[in-house]
Amino acid sequence: SAFDFAPALFPLSNSGAGYTAIGAPSGQPLAAGGEGSLERHKTLTLWKGGLSLVVGLIIGSGIFSSPAQVNINAGSPVAALTVWVIAGLLAWTGASSYAELGSAMPLNGGAQIYLSKIYGEWAGFLFTWCAVVVLKPGSAAIVAIIFGEYTVRAFIGADAMDASIWIDKAVAIAGVILVTALNCVSTKVGTRSTDAFVLLKFFALAGVTVAGIIVAITGWSFEGKASREWKQPSFWVDGTKHNPSNWAVAIYAGLWAYDGWDNVNYVAGEFINPQKDLPRTIHTSLSMVVLSYLLANVAYFLVLPLATINSSNTVAVAFGRFVLGPVGSFVLALIVAGSCFGSLNATTFTSGRLVYAAGKEGYLPAFFGQIGFSKDSAVRLPYRPSRASRLTRFIADDGVGLFYTPAYAMMLNAALTMVYIVVGSFGTLTTFYGVAGYTFYFFTVLGLIVLRVKEPDLERPYKCWITTPIIFCCVSLFLLSRAVFAQPLQTLLVVAFILAGFPLYWWRMKGRNGGRGRQQELNWKFWERWTRR
Ligand code: ARG
Repeated sequence: SAFDFAPALFPLSNSGAGYTAIGAPSGQPLAAGGEGSLERHKTLTLWKGGLSLVVGLIIGSGIFSSPAQVNINAGSPVAALTVWVIAGLLAWTGASSYAELGSAMPLNGGAQIYLSKIYGEWAGFLFTWCAVVVLKPGSAAIVAIIFGEYTVRAFIGADAMDASIWIDKAVAIAGVILVTALNCVSTKVGTRSTDAFVLLKFFALAGVTVAGIIVAITGWSFEGKASREWKQPSFWVDGTKHNPSNWAVAIYAGLWAYDGWDNVNYVAGEFINPQKDLPRTIHTSLSMVVLSYLLANVAYFLVLPLATINSSNTVAVAFGRFVLGPVGSFVLALIVAGSCFGSLNATTFTSGRLVYAAGKEGYLPAFFGQIGFSKDSAVRLPYRPSRASRLTRFIADDGVGLFYTPAYAMMLNAALTMVYIVVGSFGTLTTFYGVAGYTFYFFTVLGLIVLRVKEPDLERPYKCWITTPIIFCCVSLFLLSRAVFAQPLQTLLVVAFILAGFPLYWWRMKGRNGGRGRQQELNWKFWERWTRR
């Protein structure tokens, strides 16, 4: 591919003083080709890691717990299913747009790279600031706490769940430590654990669907009280709401379940063939997710009375109890816990790469952009495949051994996640997440259109239809505007937080014209030439 020639285009890389100890300094081309960088050791393809990464990250807690919010605000089952379709298509249009950007600029860091390229580096910095400090660890904390809740529920019972939120939080923290450790060991261990949990989720969602259909046809269920409500046509349409704010809230609730669609772009640099596999990964995984969410929702409607769905924030567990009794609720609780754990694992993998890219860029102290634990950029265990034990071969990445991962970056992410787990007030966190997250999605996708105008000749191995980013921008603008009116004060806080990144930007960037900074700028220019080739 064009990018294989990158190192040849950058004769400066790996020479010159100043970055022997910390690996490549900060320019993108060095990050892409430099010694001791993740992008140098590519492992991902569509089937190996890619697909399961996206599916595994997206399917977490949402589909098992948030249908109530969607239903209540949409008003009727048909409206709710429509909301699930709209939210899914929104995620999909966003992800397709990201596929175009990512295949044109296949580097680790995702929106950080695209925003810098399109609007200037300050934009990439502001995104990184929000994503590293709040968005990534905040969303991971939410998933972790839900993991804790369901684990406790499965093993200790529902009473313990109400008894102390601190038990949940302790389990959540243990989960964060475990996934971080797994992902520090090797990329293989990280991606293989994600794979395993993706299988679990698929069997779970397929199982729910099949169980729903069987119950609907036979009318049998463990407790003998499966809902027959769905047989009335009015069940599906009665109560549909017509107010746009209700729909906005419903869509927001659905969007949480689809969230994470942008994450594969953080690791674009580790795809062996990103130009081809990134778009394929995105389209395959999003179609699978949308389909499985719709089927699961239909199954809930077939089995459970509407009142039960709408009054529960653990709809999957209720489903399990209706179909298989206590065993069913235990199994489903365990499955939801596993699903969240897998999502947490995948998010650790991608967030680590985002922080790592920020370290390489010089946005964060350089050691966050370092591989492994040693100061020497590439920590290679004396590892030869031929002599290695079976176990080592199973867990170590070919050719580089153990700990060839952005360990410090993932630890920073884990530390922040734990802080949010401990202080976590989710009301604020979710608002922040929605508003700040979608602000950046909006500007990134808008940037796709800007870039098409500004740089029509940029090599774009994958081009989405121009309607795709336009639809995404319109819908996300609508959602954002509702949030601004509904919660003006919180929105103001979010804006203030984003802008607080500016002083930091000047502080981090002021050294740029001397020493390492100059090198960085040079690389940046080279990278521009390279991508424009
Ligand atoms: N969609 C996931 C869920 O349903 C949440 C993903 C959180 N986002 C993230 N970037 N980790 O739980």
